[in-house]
Amino acid sequence: MLMITTLPTPRDLKIIPRDRRFGREIAAPRLWHGGRVEATAIYNALSTTFPAGEAFFVESVRAFREGAPPKLAEEIKAFTTQEAIHSREHDAFNRRASDAGYDLSKLEAQVEKRLAVTRGRPPVVSLAATMALEHFTAILAHQLLANPRHLAGGEKETADLWRWHACEEIEHKGVAYDTWLFATRDWTKWKRWKVKAKVMLYVTRNFVVDRTAGSLELMRQDGVTGFRAWRLLLTYLWVRPGMFRKIAGAWFKFFLPGFHPWNEDDRHLLAAYDASAVDAAQPAKKVRRAA
Ligand SMILES: [Fe+2]
Ligand SMILES: [Fe+2]
Repeated sequence: MLMITTLPTPRDLKIIPRDRRFGREIAAPRLWHGGRVEATAIYNALSTTFPAGEAFFVESVRAFREGAPPKLAEEIKAFTTQEAIHSREHDAFNRRASDAGYDLSKLEAQVEKRLAVTRGRPPVVSLAATMALEHFTAILAHQLLANPRHLAGGEKETADLWRWHACEEIEHKGVAYDTWLFATRDWTKWKRWKVKAKVMLYVTRNFVVDRTAGSLELMRQDGVTGFRAWRLLLTYLWVRPGMFRKIAGAWFKFFLPGFHPWNEDDRHLLAAYDASAVDAAQPAKKVRRAA
């Protein structure tokens, strides 16, 4: 069996919230992603999940912060601040999509429905779901920053919002995982693997089904339906630029023994982002939860 070495979260990693605002001054076009219906739809569908979804992540991780080692406790704090700012910015992004004429209510109701099911289970299941979805977010973020094709043609400031979010998702990608390791420290390796594998398969299925349905619903609102809608969307996701195909390998690594999100140290992507962002180095002021 293939073995990979466990490299924990780098000791010198600093999670520093970049309190930035996007799109308050400009009116982005409805089809902000290069005029493309399917590209705009998938990013809008994704954004619809963030305000409620990231508030859920924070709540799930914070439920286990009691007694955490000081470094992890610090990281949970910074993770909370980053996710709260993401919620605020995606809330504003979603409002702009609504103002442009999209009805997001069906998509939001589906997110609430999924969250309600998970909230009905023990807190450690919510933590496992968060840990799995944070891996998902981190590999999407890596791909988004590593390959400029994904945002090519997007309205500049909106594309910037996605790059900023991606950057911080990479930065805090180990927090939910380390909290999970801490919360399940008394479990056997087998039990831990079984639960995390089961939860990952479950959230992946829901993620793919819900985001596809959400995108098709938004495309319908743009007048694109039936076979044409499926063809455009599936080509975009799986062929060109093919985000889902490109993250498949990184997704699979989650199931290997010794997996840890920081086995892949991709901080060069953060450095490149920070170098390109004008005011990225500004520290976060006190931020209230937007969700
Ligand atoms: Fe986030
Ligand atoms: Fe996150």
